[in-house]
Amino acid sequence: MKGGQSVNHFTPEIDLHQEILKLKKKKNAVLLAHFYQRPEIQEVADYVGDSLGLSQAAAKTDADIIVFAGVHFMAETVKILNPAKKVLLPDLSAGCSLADSCPPEIFGPFVEAHPEHLVVTYINCSAEIKALSDYICTSSNALKIISAIPKTTPIIFAPDKNLGSYLIGQTGRDMLLWEGSCIVHEAFCIDKLLDLYQRHPDAMIIAHPESEEHILKIANYIGSTSAMITYVKHHPRKKYIVATEAGILHEMQKEVPDTILIPAPSVEDNSCACSECAFMKTNTLQKTYRCLRDETPEIKVPKTIAKKALVPIERMLKLSK
Ligand code: 13P
Ligand code: SF4
Repeated sequence: MKGGQSVNHFTPEIDLHQEILKLKKKKNAVLLAHFYQRPEIQEVADYVGDSLGLSQAAAKTDADIIVFAGVHFMAETVKILNPAKKVLLPDLSAGCSLADSCPPEIFGPFVEAHPEHLVVTYINCSAEIKALSDYICTSSNALKIISAIPKTTPIIFAPDKNLGSYLIGQTGRDMLLWEGSCIVHEAFCIDKLLDLYQRHPDAMIIAHPESEEHILKIANYIGSTSAMITYVKHHPRKKYIVATEAGILHEMQKEVPDTILIPAPSVEDNSCACSECAFMKTNTLQKTYRCLRDETPEIKVPKTIAKKALVPIERMLKLSK
């Protein structure tokens, strides 16, 4: 204290966005982010995309470090594609209810019990499950992957039963479905959605195929996150009710600034009427900065599992060109 005045201990907060940009350059690092990430993370990322786009971006990067802003199974996929690179996830607890719904100790014997079936697995699963699969797919390419398999070959589709039923409807294939689901997409409330639609009859309903059948039935368009953005961008309609995780609205609104985007309401939600994935939102800008600065937490995949899991991932990438 001097002359009755207190000493100012204030240190200006660091500009996380600028610091991340500097660290990326210094360390030859790349930041990949999913559409469901917080807007401030999307804004500092080198690439923002859906699961397929992110895998494709990861497969061709020449960065030494990949910071993956998304959930654990996505970062694992990146590590499998880049075994020699350092892959970082801002928060290791960023899991996924859908991936968790397919434990390898149960799925393994299930696959063994159906030796005549090919196993097509949605990318939302662990590395162990990928290692038990013949093909990986995302919501962007699932139809293409299924259609590439001869009609006479029986298929196990895991882990998402909603995407699986949708694909059965689209392809006419009688696939054996695993009973997994996403807590976010299963939370959409049909009654509230219909009520919202009544108040906005000029809106179109667009939905992610992880949503339940009754939601998909009333949707005007069904597609992956990137497909939904492309659809809105090219369609003349100026109002949409969007049934997927609310993080998508950031990129979508940037693409169509004059369009009204309304998040589909979920069962629990009486306030903001939007659905957020708590796993995706576990990552923050602060954690992203720290993980790039300290180069931890790092994603590790056991070599034997990574080698097996790479085969179906590479089959998918080849079929998606
Ligand atoms: P896409 O972005 O590939 O459509 O997948 C959404 C998702 O489930 C991410 O968890
Ligand atoms: Fe998993 Fe659903 Fe979250 Fe996607 S939105 S990460 S499928 S829990």
